[in-house]
Amino acid sequence: MIAIIGGGAIGLAIGWRLASADLAVTVFDRGRAGSAASEAAAGMLAPVSEAEPEEDALIQLALAGHAMWPAFAVELTARTGTLIDYWQCGGLHVALDRDEVERLRFLQDFLARLQLEARWLGGTEARSLSPHLSPNVKAALVSPTDHQVDNRKLMAALRTAFVTDGGWLQEHTEVTALDLAGGKVTGVIAGGRRYAAELVILAAGAWSGANEALPAQYRPPVRPVKGQMLSVRMSSSLTELILWRNGRYLVPRRDGRLLIGATVEERGFDDRLTAGGLFQLLEEARALLPDIDELPIEERWSGFRPASRDDAPILGPSPLPGLIYATGHYRHGILLTPITAAGIAEYVLHGTVPPALQPFSAARFAARGSMERVA
Ligand code: GLY
Repeated sequence: MIAIIGGGAIGLAIGWRLASADLAVTVFDRGRAGSAASEAAAGMLAPVSEAEPEEDALIQLALAGHAMWPAFAVELTARTGTLIDYWQCGGLHVALDRDEVERLRFLQDFLARLQLEARWLGGTEARSLSPHLSPNVKAALVSPTDHQVDNRKLMAALRTAFVTDGGWLQEHTEVTALDLAGGKVTGVIAGGRRYAAELVILAAGAWSGANEALPAQYRPPVRPVKGQMLSVRMSSSLTELILWRNGRYLVPRRDGRLLIGATVEERGFDDRLTAGGLFQLLEEARALLPDIDELPIEERWSGFRPASRDDAPILGPSPLPGLIYATGHYRHGILLTPITAAGIAEYVLHGTVPPALQPFSAARFAARGSMERVA
């Protein structure tokens, strides 16, 4: 049996790939599958808008992962009958003052270097494309590669796909220890029972680095980075594009919600919503779309991004034989779900890590001295 620790998007998608290849797979989740970062996310598939220019290998992975999404969405919906609202909506980076216009020029150059389409708009053009934008808009950059999926629907679909193809989902069942013999993994202890397992895949998101089931030296350097978000209900659409400014975003959903995100906070596992956090989000949203003033707030929530020491994922075999990492996806978990699932399944089935995943080996941290978690 293959045991997967964590029933988020990454764990369930890997589980689905392995179950559909006729392997016996169990996904263990200490709570309800999907209830952590996977459902807290905004579901943006924005390979460049959420990357830093120096993250070259990560951007290549993100672009390759982005290219897999159309076929992945079709396959998942065909297998489950569940619509996941994959939407090639596009994005708009908005500048409201001269400094922001300069930063937008920098982004434009960056996109041009990657040979990605991006269209420059003056303020008037931006407002004719998106009429509810603030009259203060000075310039904007259209980013057609920014797509989205409804991540809650995605989780429902992944759960169905995994179980339909023969996977076993054990929710509210925490893996408390690995069973080791002869220097390798032979099983897991979960919910007070022992399960034999020749492979264990760690897909526990932000909890991967603090996972006490693993001997300390095999805990990957992953820490939680908190994000607060909220949603309002639109009576008519205020934007069809994802709007970006200063690292914050507004994501319109097909069902009439507008998601407003997100803070980026180093607060450990403190999940409390704060007045300051929500105030910043509302202030940003109002600066872009003044018409949100009258809209009812529908939900508020927080989640924990799993961030590694270099903000890139940790993928592939660990130094402990039989333990595989699929964690540390930071801001890109939903975007990187199809490529992570395909790559880890390839490693399990054929013993080779595909080239796209090779730069993300845990060995990059060992080479710098230790695997110890740096918080
Ligand atoms: N990917 C959305 C966020 O990290 O806020």
